[in-house]
Amino acid sequence: MSGAFHFRLLTLASFCLLELQAAVVPINSALPNAQPLQDGRIVGGYQVDIEKFPYQVSIRLDSSVLIHICGGSIYAPRIIITAAHCLKGRYASTIRIVAGSSTIANSTEEGVAVQKLIYHSGYVKKTHDNDVGLVILKTALVYSSTIQAIPLAQSSALVGTPAIASGWGKDDENAQQLTNLLQAVELQIVDSEECAVQYAVNNYVITDEMICAAAEEGGKDTCQGDSGGPLVVDGKLLGIVSWGIGCAQHYPGVYVSVPYHVEWIVQQAAQYL
Ligand SMILES: *[C@@H]1O[C@H](CO)[C@@H](O)[C@H](O)[C@H]1NC(C)=O
Repeated sequence: MSGAFHFRLLTLASFCLLELQAAVVPINSALPNAQPLQDGRIVGGYQVDIEKFPYQVSIRLDSSVLIHICGGSIYAPRIIITAAHCLKGRYASTIRIVAGSSTIANSTEEGVAVQKLIYHSGYVKKTHDNDVGLVILKTALVYSSTIQAIPLAQSSALVGTPAIASGWGKDDENAQQLTNLLQAVELQIVDSEECAVQYAVNNYVITDEMICAAAEEGGKDTCQGDSGGPLVVDGKLLGIVSWGIGCAQHYPGVYVSVPYHVEWIVQQAAQYL
């Protein structure tokens, strides 16, 4: 089993991964001239249509082709919620958002241009604290059967509550590629204290603004490429895919708590509604 921590994003320069992740998880080969990405999925999930997850978007790096780097959720026509680590160190001009598509393998997709990237001023890469951010679009998304906003969860969920995560991330922490087609996985909210005890062994702190989720039977998780994407309970956005040790190994996945950050999100978003 890997003991390597990783963010659940894909990174061209790999700096995010390498700094904290001495040995294990192979870096995705998503270089600017990479081939279209194929095969792979959220770990232990199943293929779904975007119509069932119309709030899910793909965050792309515009590098002659659009390369999927992270997931995100639609909050308002011009506002996408994602993870801070998907945004830090990047420029708005290099990011595009693709909404309303089940696939990330459409090479003619142009996506929507971005006006501004906002991430929490309390974001700390090393501890993963406050890993929340917003992407502000230049033009408004037009809502349809495949493009819809998701309301924010205002309160936290009890241990054992069913939750669903989605994305185009890897189906195995050692996989080299992403999936083409959107995948979802059914998880449950894990007791934060138990989660904290597990992570404490590796000197990671689970704070009040993090939520842990896993599947009781194991074998299910989010993974690299899913970062920034949604964890949903009762049709509301409860979490943002953030980090973990391995994927679907011994450790629960860790998500940013949306209820904890509701005020920040609402405040930051206000002028772009
Ligand atoms: C690919 O993207 C283009 C531009 O958004 C769209 O018109 C076309 O229908 C898409 N093709 C598929 C197979 O999704």
